[in-house]
Amino acid sequence: MSLKESLGTIYKKLVELVTPDVKIDMDNIPKHIGIIMDGNGRWAKRRGLKRSDGHRAGAKTLEDITDYCSKIGVKFLTVYAFSTENWKRDKAEVDAIMELIYEYMSNMENLIGGKDCRIRVIGDRSRLSDKLNAKILEVEDYTKDRTGPTLNIALNYGGRDEILRAARLAAQAVSEGKITADGIDEKYMSSLMYTGDNPEVDLIIRPSGEKRLSNFLLWQCAYSEFWFSNTCWPDFTPKHMKIAIAEYQKRNRRFGGV
Ligand code: FPP
Repeated sequence: MSLKESLGTIYKKLVELVTPDVKIDMDNIPKHIGIIMDGNGRWAKRRGLKRSDGHRAGAKTLEDITDYCSKIGVKFLTVYAFSTENWKRDKAEVDAIMELIYEYMSNMENLIGGKDCRIRVIGDRSRLSDKLNAKILEVEDYTKDRTGPTLNIALNYGGRDEILRAARLAAQAVSEGKITADGIDEKYMSSLMYTGDNPEVDLIIRPSGEKRLSNFLLWQCAYSEFWFSNTCWPDFTPKHMKIAIAEYQKRNRRFGGV
């Protein structure tokens, strides 16, 4: 580990120390949390590191947060790792993110999700390399019978792209006579999303100070609660998750009722 990286680790410990430790109600844990893992680039820039170092630090945070979610009983965690728009970045950065994801998937026993986590990738896989696609299939198959939380990794994922895909699937089902156009309701459309067999997304978390959705889970977040933090993702800790969950537990979710 370089000096700059060690300083980054020390800084994270300090962030953890000064972040208040709040109490959460263990009987009201969100079933499904979505996280936009933002701020890796800024985190790296502030430390004179490469953007890819920020993503590596972000991957480590994902490991810690997945462990924590597993511990407190979150059943589904969906994380935004690479959007359909992220291809606009420098090829070197794109390659570094893909390589990092491959690396993490190759070491799945020890890294993301530990031993009990079911890993799935959501998004359009057609643009991913054959090597990464093969690894994804291997990891999904290897973890499919696990009973712990499901970690959905959104990779080449876009909410609009997902809705378009679902619309095409629905149109195809109509043309094949499997359903009538009138039979297409919200429940049916939900079932055609990548997260079709997951519960609704209860809480969306975005670190790094940005307050937008950036094409993440557009269909699924109709009634989600949102929580934002100024902390960049590599510095995010389980204490931040606790604050987000405590805040969520204070919200009065009415789902359009009174
Ligand atoms: C957004 O921060 C982050 C990304 C586009 C990549 C997220 C990827 C990881 C954390 C890699 C690990 C993933 C797995 C599944 C192991 P940004 O680069 O847009 O930050 P900035 O807004 O500060 O530039």
